[in-house]
Amino acid sequence: MSDLSRSSHSKRWANPAKQASAVSDYLVDNFSRQHTYLRISLTERCNLRCTYCMPEEGVPLTPSANLLTKNEILRLAKLFVGQGVTKIRLTGGEPTVRSDVIEIVRSLGQLKRGNKSSDRLNIQQRYLKSLAMTTNGVALRRKLPALFNNGVAGLDTVNISLDTLNPDLFQIMTRRKGFDKVMESIEEALRLGLPQVKINTVVMKGVNDQEDVLNFVAFTKEHPINVRFIEYMPFDGNKWNRDRLVPFEELIQKIKSRFGRLEKLQDEPNDTTKHYKIPGFKGKIGFITSMTDHFCGTCNRLRITADGNIKVCLFGNTEVSLRDMMRNGRTDQELLEVIGAAVNKKKKQHAGMFKLASSKNRPMILIGG
Ligand code: 5AD
Ligand code: SF4
Repeated sequence: MSDLSRSSHSKRWANPAKQASAVSDYLVDNFSRQHTYLRISLTERCNLRCTYCMPEEGVPLTPSANLLTKNEILRLAKLFVGQGVTKIRLTGGEPTVRSDVIEIVRSLGQLKRGNKSSDRLNIQQRYLKSLAMTTNGVALRRKLPALFNNGVAGLDTVNISLDTLNPDLFQIMTRRKGFDKVMESIEEALRLGLPQVKINTVVMKGVNDQEDVLNFVAFTKEHPINVRFIEYMPFDGNKWNRDRLVPFEELIQKIKSRFGRLEKLQDEPNDTTKHYKIPGFKGKIGFITSMTDHFCGTCNRLRITADGNIKVCLFGNTEVSLRDMMRNGRTDQELLEVIGAAVNKKKKQHAGMFKLASSKNRPMILIGG
């Protein structure tokens, strides 16, 4: 018997009643959190250089032979969906720079319910419900129709990262051109009718925390879009500084004083966003308060890095290589034991904002948000 199969998970898995539950024990941690949301990074490369994400000089890239292949990604995705993951988000770097991104999305889309291939797989009647992508939108527009696939087992949600509606500031914050292309992608996503189109805006004090935020709120008047303001988080190489963080309450006050009323909306159980809207506006706004009001208690996320490590916490530095296991011919069951052990080690919450700033982690570009 190998070390792996001796883990406590093997015993728990022996109970057939467990297999019928929504999530297998492998995805439940010691604090009873059920991990139904998997974020898969497709690449470490990016066509922008956002200041809050990576250092100016870029980051050393993993040789491409060490990144997960399309088939490895698919194998892991099937394995996780079979255990109860219902939502997959593709991240990067920038996922659209990967040349096989459309094939990957199409294959993952087949894990959705009602799709012939997923029915054939009959993975314990567990299906993918949502397939999402976080992208900077620069190279998205032309790929969108194929990715969305008219709603047939394709992408249903895009989160487009955009920190300002001012083209000059865009170029400063991303260290690249591309603003018009991002706007065209947003328009295209709305035109195609993707069920969810969101904008992710990282707010930095003294950079985009004044008119830029208010302009985004005004943007939701005519656009059925969900703009989420994200608190600036510390990662390796991004020179995080407490003074650059804008607590969400500050933004709420600013928005209220400009627009008068701000209506609180109902949030979903595992939501990391606090949702609001201006009465009468078509879109919504939200706040992702990772720093001032963390949501570790309801965290349902696991991450796979582009080089195939499982990462159970955005801020944790413990990782295990699923890629190496797959390349060493390990079985799905062996992978599950290791995944279960990693999930079991997940901490109750992250270390707090000051400790985070000084702890060792990857740069954001190598995690994927
Ligand atoms: N703090 C907060 N959000 C960040 N992102 C990247 N770096 C940071 C950071 N330091 C966001 C990007 C993208 C998502 C993947 O994470 O804007 O929308
Ligand atoms: Fe690229 Fe996104 Fe990082 Fe900006 S935040 S550099 S777009 S990966």
